[in-house]
Amino acid sequence: MNPSSSLPDAKTSPEADSSVLQIWGGHPLQGHVNISGAKNSALVIMAGALLCSGDCRIRNVPLLADVERMAQVLLALGVRLTRQSDILDINASEITTSKAPYELVTQLRASFFAIGAILARLGVAQMPLPGGCAIGARPVDLHVRGLQAMGAEVQIEHGICNAYVPGSSNRLKGAKIYLDTPSVGATETLMMAATLADGETMIENAAREPEVVDLANFCNAMGAKIQGAGTSTITVVGVPKLHSVEYSIIPDRIETGTFLVAGAITRSELTLSPVCPDHLIPVIAKLRDIGVPIIEEGPDCLRVRKSATLRATDIETLPHPGFPTDMQAPFMALLTLAEGDSLINESVFENRLRHASELNRLGADIRVKGNTAFVRGVPMLSGAPVLGTDLRASAALVIAGLAAEGQTTIQGLNHLDRGYDRLDLKLQQLGARISRLGGVSADAQVTNSIHPSTSVTT
Ligand code: EPZ
Repeated sequence: MNPSSSLPDAKTSPEADSSVLQIWGGHPLQGHVNISGAKNSALVIMAGALLCSGDCRIRNVPLLADVERMAQVLLALGVRLTRQSDILDINASEITTSKAPYELVTQLRASFFAIGAILARLGVAQMPLPGGCAIGARPVDLHVRGLQAMGAEVQIEHGICNAYVPGSSNRLKGAKIYLDTPSVGATETLMMAATLADGETMIENAAREPEVVDLANFCNAMGAKIQGAGTSTITVVGVPKLHSVEYSIIPDRIETGTFLVAGAITRSELTLSPVCPDHLIPVIAKLRDIGVPIIEEGPDCLRVRKSATLRATDIETLPHPGFPTDMQAPFMALLTLAEGDSLINESVFENRLRHASELNRLGADIRVKGNTAFVRGVPMLSGAPVLGTDLRASAALVIAGLAAEGQTTIQGLNHLDRGYDRLDLKLQQLGARISRLGGVSADAQVTNSIHPSTSVTT
């Protein structure tokens, strides 16, 4: 039985494309918000489970369309997978094919990162190229060059990345790899490939994001030998096999930042947990710079307090530990109401300022030139119909809608549901006047297509 045929299509349902969020702005929020597991850890750790020839139990998995899509990719590879609430049980002891399904990989870039794990396990992998998206071309040349350095032959034809390890051992070899840019995905792909390679691998100019560290900790919990994750130089000593594991994913720092900004723009007082303040140093620093009081209440709880005024500031997005590109759009929404002029430079992706024009429809005063946005603060925003063009742009429009006078309707919820775990429901619980019209609710939208307690076997 083809596992993927036994489950409903992972594509976000048409309803998500047709449903809209309706927000009546100007209402302060209050209360406590529970932060879900990190999307960008969950997706890559699910790929990492392919390295294991036993049972992987992954806890604190967020309820997201992208997680469902990644589950479909794993099922199509012959992996056994069940979900019960926020717990995923994965068994990749028998991967029945090295060929990932085209229509799924092109919908979910993160699934491409599995190429390293499949190649490490099977010595062969056929992975569709993920292609570009709204925020940029999203090439994978660093992933490919790193795998070639580890001894893989890679041909790209008809949109498919065909990789195999020549020779009888079909085992990748340790190598010294330098990344031209500290790519998160390339670091993760190559780190996974190296865990089962023959010999030692060194990845220089590696990405330092917390999600890279989370993946390294997950792999080490399976018996991998990874050192230096979180620094620019990661070394991996290959081992023959990885064993079963139970692992809990870190809280989502971008969801945390998004709610901090929502509290700031509505002049609200909120508490958020569980959080990792150390993952949010640039975000917290910038909010304080803007005049928003952020209090660390214990090791895993943050409080945002009402701010008298919002001060303009400048932002440049950078690889971690710099200011995260995924927080650029939400901060732009906040700065539309700051006193003074702010300058935002998006240096990570080449086309990640498209939300500026939608924010201007809400009365913002933003001019974009190349990768720089000039934001002149305005006294107020006014509600209007707007369209989310990508995941974080959609979040920015929700944030702006919470502060805008009157009604804002937001289309493009398929983007939002990819990366935020029931954002509208969480905001409703904080007192926001927000509702989802048409289609299905956020949690119904992402109901588990992997039915709980029925294991889907190959
Ligand atoms: C990851 O994407 C995240 N996605 C992104 O989050 C995040 O914005 C990004 O890292 C940067 O932090 C996941 O983890 C699933 P990159 P990734 O490779 O790995 C260039 C969100 O909203 N590059 O670090 O694809 C690339 O074009 C998403 O949650 C190459 O040139 O990002 C970009 O300019 C969006 N060649 C820069 O590096 C390559 O082979 C950084 O991209 C790979 C990347």
